[in-house]
This record gives sequence, structure tokens and C-alpha cells, in this order.
Amino acid sequence: MEPIRSVQWSPDGRALRIIDQRRLPLEFVERDLHTLEDIRDSITTLAVRGAPAIGVAAAIGLVVTMQPFEQEPPVLFRARLQAHAAVLNASRPTAVNLSWALARMAACSDAHLAANSSELLMKLRAEATRILEEDRAMCESIGAHGLQFVPDGTRVLTHCNAGALATAGIGTALAPVYLAHRADRQVFVFADETRPLLQGSRLTAWELSRAGIPVTILTDGMAASLMRDNEIDIVLVGADRIAANGDTANKIGTYSVAVAARHHGIPFYVCAPWSTIDRATPNGAAIVIEQRDGAEVRSLLGTTVAPIGAAVRNPAFDVTPAELITGVITDKGVYRAPYSFTYV
Ligand code: MRU
Repeated sequence: MEPIRSVQWSPDGRALRIIDQRRLPLEFVERDLHTLEDIRDSITTLAVRGAPAIGVAAAIGLVVTMQPFEQEPPVLFRARLQAHAAVLNASRPTAVNLSWALARMAACSDAHLAANSSELLMKLRAEATRILEEDRAMCESIGAHGLQFVPDGTRVLTHCNAGALATAGIGTALAPVYLAHRADRQVFVFADETRPLLQGSRLTAWELSRAGIPVTILTDGMAASLMRDNEIDIVLVGADRIAANGDTANKIGTYSVAVAARHHGIPFYVCAPWSTIDRATPNGAAIVIEQRDGAEVRSLLGTTVAPIGAAVRNPAFDVTPAELITGVITDKGVYRAPYSFTYV
């Protein structure tokens, strides 16, 4: 089966190619994006989404948007590069992978101060490709470190989509699931549907079914009763930003799942690449949570499901405190409290 490539270079290397995740599961549509506005909007509107995937999209996208300017004098080119990076960086605030990837691109630019514009563009292209390839490799490593928690017959609960669609590779939370499946273990997944944008039912259920992994969709709020009935062995979720103390921002609703898991004595693991760990942010209170348009809550797939103008709240993420997290499965190993996130 063809791997899912949520973000990649277009075949001619001139565009950012994404799977338009707004159209799934009804339609599989790939789009080639060339302009700064289109690339920014693809991130803002969640056409491309998931913390690692938006980091990769921003890195490739930055190169794509600088291509028309490679004949510019280096001073202008570098100023423009910074301006484009600032636009992309502002597209979504919570996932640290976005600023992490753009900081790597900036460091690459700073490391080649003597380069002319087209030489610098080549260096940036190589760096974006490295970010893409490293993300794929990190997913595999997360899977390898997480495989020990998914023995034959495991029933996994996940929230949102932290699978192949959310990364350049096989995902984070779903990586141990894919590896268990590859190892011929039986694994069953419960996917929270994840209102308001339904990443669980639209995306997680789509990609797991495609891979032949049994998946059952739960409406949000259902998980606790399945835990009580002894139907869930482990919770695996992704992360958008992990603070230095282990507090973790992830899709809204993750915190409730963690509370329920603790109450029922079920292990709750966060799976994330090193690029999601933000040691500069001391704790969850310092994480900026994206607030999205209330229209996403008042309607469902284009149908109004609330009184016109009803007050709603629509934070895209919440913070799960480190004390509710059994461990963080990264590409460098499994970390447990007290978190130090140092790696030698
Ligand atoms: O708003 P989204 O769909 O981008 O939110 C995605 C999540 O919360 C994921 O769990 C997280 O980014 C990790 S993806 C490997």
C-alpha cells in the first residue's frame, strides 16, 4: 500500500504538495501550493494540520515562496525571507513545530552569510528536505520506542489525529499502532471523533481503515464509560507543545481523557518527536492556546447545529498537566516524570 504523504515536495520540486485534509474522508485531493497566501491559508484552515506536518509544510513552503526572488540582491532576499517566515509563523500559535522548523531555516540562512541568493536558496531547499526526512525517521523511532506498550490484542484509545496525516511519516500516537500491525499483532483502536472539526472520525478512522487496522469511532465524552467497562488498555495521544515540566498541549478534549484515564488506572502516554518539546516554555500555563472561530462549533459540515449567534467557546487545544501523563514516548526514548528532556 502506498504510504500517506500529507506534506511533500511536488514532483518538479517547485511547489508544496499537500493532501487537502478538509476534504477527507469523502475525497482524496492533493494540492500543489506556490504562493505565500495559499501556504499560510492551508495551515490556518487545517488543509494541512498536525504539529509535525505544519512544521514541514512551513519549511518547504518558505523555500517555494522564495523561488521567484533568487535573482534579488542578497540583502533584499534575506529581508524577504524573514518577512515570509514571519507570515508563516503567525498562521497557528500553539504547535511549536512550526516555529521550530522556521528557526532551523533561519539558522541555515545565518550559517551561509557569504552565499548569494540562489546559493542560499539551494541551502534552504536542502534544509527543508532534511526537516522532512528527519520527521519521517522520528515517526519510525517513536513507533519503535512505543511498540513495547502495544502487545498483541491491545485496545488503544486515541484523540484527534496524530497519525500519518499529521506528520511526514507514519505519525506519532499511531506510530506504535502501525508498528504493532506490521508485527502481525492484533490491535484495536478507539478514535474519539474530536469535535468541532472531527479529526478523529474524518481522519484517524480514514487512515487506520485504509491500513486494515480495526477502528471504532466514539463520540466525545464516551471514553470514560468504556474505561470503566474495562474496554481500553492504553491511551496514546499526540502533542502540539510539551513544556519543560512535561505539561502538554494537545487537541481540546485530551485533558478530559487524561483525567478519566487516571481515575480508571489506565496508562496515558503522549507520543511526540523531539521537535515538539519546548524547553523554553516552563509549564503549561505559558503555552498560547489557539482560539478559533465559533462558527466551527455552531455548524457541522456546513449544517447549522446551534441557534444563530449562540455564544460558544472554541479553543483548539487544552493542556494536560504532567502529573496525569504516564510517560512521553519520543524518538529518543520514553521519558517519565520528573521531566528533564535532556538527551546525550
Ligand atoms: O488542530 P489540529 O488538527 O492541527 O490538531 C492536531 C493535534 O492536536 C495533534 O494531536 C497534534 O498536532 C499531534 S500530531 C502528530
